[in-house]
Amino acid sequence: MKILIVGKGGREHALARALSDSPSSPELFACPGSEGMSALATPVTDIPNPAALTVWMKQQGIDLCVAGEEAWLALGLADECEKAGIPCFGPFQEAAQLESSKIYAKEFMTRHNVPTGGFEVVDNAADCRAAVKSYPTVLKYNGLAAGKGVAVCTTEAEMEEFVKMVFEDKQFGEDRVFVEEFLDGKEVSVICAVAGDDYQYFTPARDYKRLKENDLGPNTGGMGAVASRRLLDPEMAERIEKTIIQPTVDGLKKDNLRYCGFLYWGIILTKEGPKVLEFNCRFGDPEAQAVLPLVEGDFAEFLFQAAQGKLNAGLLKFHEGWSITLVMASKDYPAKGGSGDVISGLDDVKEGRVYHAGTRLNDEGAFETNGGRILTVSRTGNTREEARDAAYAELKKISFDGAQIRTDIGTLHFE
Ligand code: GLY
Repeated sequence: MKILIVGKGGREHALARALSDSPSSPELFACPGSEGMSALATPVTDIPNPAALTVWMKQQGIDLCVAGEEAWLALGLADECEKAGIPCFGPFQEAAQLESSKIYAKEFMTRHNVPTGGFEVVDNAADCRAAVKSYPTVLKYNGLAAGKGVAVCTTEAEMEEFVKMVFEDKQFGEDRVFVEEFLDGKEVSVICAVAGDDYQYFTPARDYKRLKENDLGPNTGGMGAVASRRLLDPEMAERIEKTIIQPTVDGLKKDNLRYCGFLYWGIILTKEGPKVLEFNCRFGDPEAQAVLPLVEGDFAEFLFQAAQGKLNAGLLKFHEGWSITLVMASKDYPAKGGSGDVISGLDDVKEGRVYHAGTRLNDEGAFETNGGRILTVSRTGNTREEARDAAYAELKKISFDGAQIRTDIGTLHFE
């Protein structure tokens, strides 16, 4: 079986590893992929859009396309695959609006009684200021913004900074903003493989979005994640399934939104119960790097069948233990990415899994930094402490100039 993964980051590297570990031994390609994952998946570069990609897939006899990044889905990757008759695990453009349009997602949740925070939509700076009644408040840019379109503002100055970025500097484009009720509580990321009205619950995870320990500093694409079946107690897992997952999957059907792909619910465990913060129409990053090492079985065959509408749960097994993923970011992240700092110690990591996110090979054949989040290190263990100690022990072997890490992944929010 030939599989193409679409994307280039740590999540796609983790998908490549899980697919390549599958007993069905697929041949893997990644568009654009990266030098860091090229040993598993041959990079496919210079493809401008989904239509051109399906032409390439047909020429190569690709059997399955697995969407990693949301941007290609929002451009109609799955729709183009369907036209070309190529199974795709990733939703159609219409359903991908659950991620690409936050207003669309909120209206979907309201229509289908999926619990979420209250909100108001605004399209200019003055209305935005007027809609903020208290702090903290959450401001969200409606369109895609590469993980930077959400601000949790605790002061007026922070609100003004976001307003300037969106309405004056127009950093993300011309879309609207919504002002959302701040949901207080621990966060959990739930990911399911969805095919029609069936779904397969993967291991829940917790992502650490702030740059610094104790959830301080700016928001990032995620500085680490922890995953385990034991992250949620059985009552809460059942409540989430009953009040959030099932109504969402039923809602897709009621709205005639054909959905085939990973669906991600960002959930806050508030005092009133679990509420949805956001949907993503793909696996999370860095959640994938924590969750996928806990998946055993034939992941490739599972996705191949799922892309054709059949969820064969018997093909997968989920490790009952814990997994921790630690992110190493470049020195000026998230303000800007770094480049050209040589990364040492990669070959010393024997037990953990290193997933490349922002690396490249230099002229001497060594990996160097080339982005904001550079790489992730993942380890599993029977307990959270075991996984955590093992992950930090492996991480210590890797270094590059100015590397930023968090030291409380898997500890904070477990007090
Ligand atoms: N970890 C959050 C995301 O993937 O969007």
